[in-house]
Amino acid sequence: MTLLDGKATAAQIRTELAQAVQQRKLEGKKIPHLAAVLVGNDGGSVSYVNSKVSACDQIGFESTLIRYDSSVPEEILLDKVRQLNEDKSIDGFIVQLPLPAHIDELKITQAIDPKKDVDGFHPRNLGNMILNLPGFLPATPAGIMALIERNNIETEGKNCVIIGRSNIVGTPLSIMLGRNANPGNCTVTLAHSRTENLKEICLQADILIAAIGQPNFVTADMVKTGAVIIDVGTTRVDDATRERGWRLVGDVDFEAVAPKCSFISPVPGGVGPMTIASLMMNTLKAMELKGK
Ligand code: GUN
Repeated sequence: MTLLDGKATAAQIRTELAQAVQQRKLEGKKIPHLAAVLVGNDGGSVSYVNSKVSACDQIGFESTLIRYDSSVPEEILLDKVRQLNEDKSIDGFIVQLPLPAHIDELKITQAIDPKKDVDGFHPRNLGNMILNLPGFLPATPAGIMALIERNNIETEGKNCVIIGRSNIVGTPLSIMLGRNANPGNCTVTLAHSRTENLKEICLQADILIAAIGQPNFVTADMVKTGAVIIDVGTTRVDDATRERGWRLVGDVDFEAVAPKCSFISPVPGGVGPMTIASLMMNTLKAMELKGK
């Protein structure tokens, strides 16, 4: 079994991006500037946004963090999005999800200028992705594709089962892995909460990707010997043995599954760092697409 070390792969990408920043500086070009909007105090969202800002620092990107209380009216948030769309110093920005229930996430996502939508959540970018046109790929699926590519995992002709059909992971990833490209050319099954015979379907998977947010959902009896396992889950569970009182748990029962598979991504240190690395790649691309 080989560990799909997202932490190491993401560090490599950050090094490459830092070199690109240095090169831009030498050429007197603008340094990429990412803004992140964070609403509320959800622990997971706060730590993800902090990691995004700290990745910018490490690479040499500029970053701006904009925070609002969870009671912020939708209109104020929309105004901020419009302002960031117009702000020439900002090359790309994200609004961290989920948002409080009184705010319409789709409305916010659709208000973002597609050229600055480095999360790749705008319908125009999702449409471009389907048609293989230039645009931004959503960070988590793009990070998984990079993890597969950089670890030389063969995908062509393989059976790939994705569990979870979310707009930001499962659905876009099913398209990326199915298209005629490398990585890609998989035969993809997108499984979800209504899927019948899930265990039998998972047992057919050469590549099994779990993105449902249910700790330890994938057990050893669902995994074919030699399969590639990618775990997208990041649920915080109470853990009194840790100083902070919790730990991150993936969707895969790692201890039981690891001995059966060829590759497996751990939680933490697998997909999470890759999501952040691909957001950084998108931020550099935002500048390049503008021709700056
Ligand atoms: N919430 C969970 N994943 C993401 C992500 O990739 N981007 C944003 N903006 N919010 C998220």
